[in-house]
Amino acid sequence: MDLKGFYCFMILLIVSFSDASRLSKTPVKSIKSEDGDVIDCVHISRQPAFDNPLLRNHVIQTRPKFSLEGLPANKLSNSKNLPIAQLWQLSGSCPEETIPIRRTKQVDALTASSIHRNLHSTVARHTEQIRQEGRPKLQLAAALVEGEYYGAKATINIWGPLVQQSNELTTSLLSISRGSSLSNLSSIEVGWQVNPSLYNDNRTRLFTFWWNRFKGCYDLLCSGFIQITNKIALGGALSPLSIYHGEQFDIDVFVLKDASQDVWWLQVGKETLGYWPTSLLPNLANSASTILWGGIVFDSESDGQHTTTQMGSGHPPEEGFEGASYMKNLQVVVESDNLSPLSNPVAIAQQPYCYNITLGKSSYWGDYIFYGGPGRNPNCP
Ligand SMILES: *[C@@H]1O[C@H](CO)[C@@H](O)[C@H](O)[C@H]1NC(C)=O
Ligand SMILES: *[C@@H]1O[C@H](CO)[C@@H](O)[C@H](O)[C@H]1NC(C)=O
Ligand SMILES: *[C@@H]1O[C@H](CO)[C@@H](O)[C@H](O)[C@H]1NC(C)=O
Repeated sequence: MDLKGFYCFMILLIVSFSDASRLSKTPVKSIKSEDGDVIDCVHISRQPAFDNPLLRNHVIQTRPKFSLEGLPANKLSNSKNLPIAQLWQLSGSCPEETIPIRRTKQVDALTASSIHRNLHSTVARHTEQIRQEGRPKLQLAAALVEGEYYGAKATINIWGPLVQQSNELTTSLLSISRGSSLSNLSSIEVGWQVNPSLYNDNRTRLFTFWWNRFKGCYDLLCSGFIQITNKIALGGALSPLSIYHGEQFDIDVFVLKDASQDVWWLQVGKETLGYWPTSLLPNLANSASTILWGGIVFDSESDGQHTTTQMGSGHPPEEGFEGASYMKNLQVVVESDNLSPLSNPVAIAQQPYCYNITLGKSSYWGDYIFYGGPGRNPNCP
């Protein structure tokens, strides 16, 4: 299949996945959020994941068999690690036994073109090609480790970067993957993004993404991720955002393989969101080989100039705390139940004058990065 054929195939696949799930779900309750979102509380056993034939007889796991604390977070007094705050929570809550699902219009699935869907996995796949000549569409500033990993963790600073035009996006994420070609790549991603073509606005939203051999998707837009919490909506807007030279906010994200359950758990803040069964991600059945932390911008400018879409806070790493965006307490699980600091992380910045990254290590923050930048500027024309 050529690339164009592949993208068409992807769109069909994703649309048919998400249609099936949308039509069959009758919410127990619906919540109108002040940001314009409608959150449907759908019974946990009727969530999109169970439309997937691979999960037809799946027994829902109610909790992970782990409790890992990792490095103590937030020793630096002026950053706030809130119990994860989403705008819709101000307007109501979902009952027990249900999960909040952000309602999407038909058009979302169509306009969120496949290139956006596979962009995160492109990163994992092409860490070498990413150092290519010329101006790449997909720009990355990230830290990377390679080895055998059973989990990874980070505390991610939350910002509201500007996106120049609606077919671009900016994201800050943790990515866990194995495989180097489209045909054998499995990946899991979690973080925040501003992605107007997916969410129809410029808000900073919590997202997840998974990819396996030619298919994958965001949030609960197709069947795959199994959600167990009634408190957090995937795709929901995050609030408050950090303020330049002001108050800082961040969230903890943690992805962990549970060997006894054959699943990868996702924890955000103190909340266990749910999990990806490894039956969907065969290359991640045992462990991951690449972990990446950082920012990605998708640049679609056609006038020869660099996009002004910002990464992170929109400010370069040398501005440090309260200026640039950070990720701290970067940790990996190298043996079962053992969170460790990074060994030999590599920093990748494709166009450091546009978006850059610095690596650091301290007793307060563990391994950390500052990353991001403004995009177009006199040194990045
Ligand atoms: C994935 O495919 C590439 C080339 O197609 C191959 O070199 C690599 O070993 C494969 N990796 C796995 C995990 O199967
Ligand atoms: C997002 O912001 C850009 C420019 O900042 C604006 O052109 C666009 O209309 C906004 N998109 C949405 C969906 O609000
Ligand atoms: C990018 O960051 C690295 C590491 O801190 C630094 O050595 C380099 O000078 C920076 N590049 C630019 C263009 O700012």
